[in-house]
Amino acid sequence: MRVRKAVIPAAGLGTRVLPASKSIPKEMLPIVDKPAIQYIVEEAVASGIEEILIITNRGKSVMEDHFDRSPELEERLQLSKRMDLYEEVVQVSKLANIQYLRQKETKGLGHAVNCAKTFVGNEPFAVLYGDDVIIGDVPAARQLCDAYEKYGKGVAGIKYVPTEQIGKYCTLKVEPLEDKIFSVTDMIEKPKPEQIISNYAILGRCILPPSVFDILDDLPPGANGEIQLTDAMQKIARQEGMIGVVYDSKRYDMGNKLGILQATVEVGVKHPEIAEDFKAYLKEFVKTL
Ligand code: UTP
Repeated sequence: MRVRKAVIPAAGLGTRVLPASKSIPKEMLPIVDKPAIQYIVEEAVASGIEEILIITNRGKSVMEDHFDRSPELEERLQLSKRMDLYEEVVQVSKLANIQYLRQKETKGLGHAVNCAKTFVGNEPFAVLYGDDVIIGDVPAARQLCDAYEKYGKGVAGIKYVPTEQIGKYCTLKVEPLEDKIFSVTDMIEKPKPEQIISNYAILGRCILPPSVFDILDDLPPGANGEIQLTDAMQKIARQEGMIGVVYDSKRYDMGNKLGILQATVEVGVKHPEIAEDFKAYLKEFVKTL
């Protein structure tokens, strides 16, 4: 079955990037000239997704404005004959078929995904974490959809994480199937050192079967007192198995300060408008470090 729908949870509090995220959602923080969430919507569209649901909350309506028309701005750009900018601004509002839903209480990623039950219905769907921007030649969500369509099982986007960092993520029980593709039969969210099963963790993307909603309905809070999506995926992995795909793209964690800086630098040095000036600046600047 083809994956047609995507959910982008973007209702977290973003405490790791306060005070920037106090009134600006972290998903709206820019990488050079585009907010993080736009990169994610573009990835979903490039992956063949037809319908997107963004999970928001109070104070995040600026995301809806971003993907809406902006008549006053458009008129001004037309009048001043800045047609390239006009086209770009209009294009953002036509990117995708996007709906929005508020998560009324910030009870965790699993709870946010469960808000999408009616939108998703009875088909598999992609989850693109709203603060994980992933950039590469083949869109990461597409790589996961391909694995879903091949194996017919839930798919997790995974990466190798050094032992000292894996406690911040989750740890997966994996068996290799083919190059960069694994069978996943168990997982533990935020493992203690003695619980580490492997250095593979889920990062930023997954494809889930609709059966995840029944699991989420009954799921008690897990690590940090939040309803954890990983705990629901653990049940799926144990019962029917999942697939892990080491996606071939670079992930930037826009939920932490270093991730934001890395994204800015790495996208900046490739940006058609500023790449040359920015590289020249960086080369001089590193000499002062
Ligand atoms: P994070 O755990 O990184 O988000 O969730 P957070 O809670 O905002 O982060 P910190 O720890 O306070 O800095 C990953 C994604 O899930 C969304 C977030 O917006 C982020 O895109 N999320 C998280 C929700 O939509 N709802 C939640 O209740 C929690």
